[in-house]
Amino acid sequence: MDVIVVPDGESVGRAAATAVEQLVTHRPDAVLGVATGSTPGTTYRELARRVEGGLDLSRCSAFALDEYVGIPEGHPESYRAVLDRTVREPLGLRADRVYVPDGGASDLDQACRDYEAAIEAAGGIDLQLLGLGTNGHIGFNEPTSSLRSQTRVKTLSPRTRADNARFFDDPDQVPRLCLTQGLATILRSRHAVLLAIGEKKAPALAQVVEGALSAMWPGTVLQLHQHATVICDEAAAGQLTLRDYYDAASGEAARELGVGTAG
Ligand code: GLP
Repeated sequence: MDVIVVPDGESVGRAAATAVEQLVTHRPDAVLGVATGSTPGTTYRELARRVEGGLDLSRCSAFALDEYVGIPEGHPESYRAVLDRTVREPLGLRADRVYVPDGGASDLDQACRDYEAAIEAAGGIDLQLLGLGTNGHIGFNEPTSSLRSQTRVKTLSPRTRADNARFFDDPDQVPRLCLTQGLATILRSRHAVLLAIGEKKAPALAQVVEGALSAMWPGTVLQLHQHATVICDEAAAGQLTLRDYYDAASGEAARELGVGTAG
């Protein structure tokens, strides 16, 4: 895993946007995997600025990591609605090329199989952006998720529901179920870029990068990924023990992305 530590959240956004821009420059019809939550906000805003400046993402496709089950249709916090606001509209993607698992389907298992098939039909995900839950989840793969899981229905953990309560008027409104790409689905992406911002993420990030591979910290599965890059700020990097090594080794990766490291 490459670990690139940059000074702050804005710098995380610039580095991740550069990774996307470099991909799209040589593959204009790239397939992107897009995360929700607060963390990718700086990345999407930076990409939107670059689109205004001439970057063309209109031939790209985007696949969401996950979606709530049982959220009222049109609810502003459904991940479909969030991705419309933060990705599809500002980045100029075509509506029929933005895919979100169908959390409103009458047959949820079929919706999960359809989602896997859609990813495969698109040729697989070139670059998967990921956030990190405070409990180490990626997508909504909660602790004890099978490391070989596919897109499926999951129950949200109490901690994740509490973390996400800030997006809802009442904590009871946070859905209890979701559909999420599985850990094996995420492993099939050609490049996984894990973003982490803020000191609340420091314990989980230390586990993911330096801990033992374990379903208790689902993000540790990225240790098995063919090409995984962590882009984090100083605060999120606060509990990494091999920081001097990452700064020495990631120089090349950071230079490729055109960003300076914090060290
Ligand atoms: C959410 C999402 C994840 C996200 C993570 C972290 O619940 N399902 O895709 O990466 O939790 O969220 P945030 O970036 O808001 O901290």
